[in-house]
Amino acid sequence: TVKAAVFASGTGSNFQAIIETKDLTCDVVLLVCDKPEAGAVEKAARFGIPSIVFDPKDYPSKADYEQFLIQKLQEANVTWIFLAGYMRIVGPALLQAFANRIINIHPSLLPEFPGKDAIGQAYHAGASSTGVTVHYVDEGIDTGPIIAQEPLEIFPTDSEETLKKRIQKIEHELYPQVINKLLQSK
Ligand code: GAR
Repeated sequence: TVKAAVFASGTGSNFQAIIETKDLTCDVVLLVCDKPEAGAVEKAARFGIPSIVFDPKDYPSKADYEQFLIQKLQEANVTWIFLAGYMRIVGPALLQAFANRIINIHPSLLPEFPGKDAIGQAYHAGASSTGVTVHYVDEGIDTGPIIAQEPLEIFPTDSEETLKKRIQKIEHELYPQVINKLLQSK
């Protein structure tokens, strides 16, 4: 089976949705996290998945911490990387080491509302719809070829919170599905 790593910086609800998927066609063998206090780290411990927690400030540059990560990922025989709320730009070192093997989920219909707080961005822009995108990662922020998208209507009665809940529900279903489809075709 394919071995994969999930990269997260936040609560890790997508990480959890992935590892709780019964028919997942790969083994998630590592969590990589750049924030020691992130909920994702605690979730990994609870589910018995080894984690690598690093602080970018401990390294002179992105190239240096990515080199460290590449070594750890290779030691664990990881061939795919799933970004799930990893809030850093992936650098050339990782992109090269895992060419076409890094994907990301983003809570908007890209190219609309890239970057941070995409749900808040869509909500405060008064948009009537938004969605979820899974895409290959390149050197940009939420750019890269789109693999799958699911649109979602924003109701006039939505609050930012209700919108977020509905987006997350879609994310938690879409990401494992896309992962399974992608790995099937490899
Ligand atoms: C998710 O909504 C994910 O799509 C988003 O961060 C959240 C992480 O939540 N990612 C981005 O905004 C990437 N630009 P989680 O930690 O509960 O999975």
